[in-house]
Amino acid sequence: MKGVVLAGGLGSRLYPLTKITNKHLLPVFDKPMIYYPIQCLVNAGITDILVVTGGNYAGHFLQLLRNGSDFGLRRLGYAYQEGEGGIADALKLAEEFAEGESICVVLGDNIIEGNIKKAADDFREQGGGAKILLKEVHDPERFGVATIDADGKVLEIVEKPAQPATNLAVIGIYMYDADVFDICRTLRPSDRGELEITDVNNEYVRRGTLTSQKLEGWWTDAGTFESLYRSSTLVRDAGANRTDL
Ligand code: G1P
Repeated sequence: MKGVVLAGGLGSRLYPLTKITNKHLLPVFDKPMIYYPIQCLVNAGITDILVVTGGNYAGHFLQLLRNGSDFGLRRLGYAYQEGEGGIADALKLAEEFAEGESICVVLGDNIIEGNIKKAADDFREQGGGAKILLKEVHDPERFGVATIDADGKVLEIVEKPAQPATNLAVIGIYMYDADVFDICRTLRPSDRGELEITDVNNEYVRRGTLTSQKLEGWWTDAGTFESLYRSSTLVRDAGANRTDL
């Protein structure tokens, strides 16, 4: 399985911090934000990674990450997303890189306490389809929200519902087979003008090939002042025990 880190966007919710660099290069405690999703993939045994970025400061990623040897990567590639087409639009740029293999996609501002090794191994065994990770949160209206049945099967995902049916957020780590690129081509922009990753996941629900797993340990995004601040605190407090970063 290959890895894709999505690190585009203008980060406008973090102005003026993002006026002079990309959101994913801002500090989260003692490291640039993008170190965490890259290390998350490495911890799952993935060392062939594509960073998809965009905006004015894409060159900063090359200066920081160079060829990825600091992370022990076998290969680090870069792609450039024009415009603000959304997560599923950015994902399209990974098609040639994937070369028909399955991929694990991590949003560049998602940080987790633990690791996804077991989920990645389970997905490798699954033999196709897709897998998402879920986390109970107190503010589900900020995220994609999943409804599951008694066996944990996902019935539906709704993007940022005003009245969430559950408190199960879909976190920004997704595993897909190579069908994902055909699915991305069928999508139409949502009300916010983006190709939504939730629409991709709901297509796998329709096909009956989407599995889910609950994430152990904390998870946070870091795309707002509050969540950026919280992510630094969480990483700092995870502190001394953290040998994987
Ligand atoms: C995106 C996805 C959403 C997901 C979230 C995780 O939201 O659209 O489904 O729950 O990432 O961070 P966005 O950051 O685009 O608002």
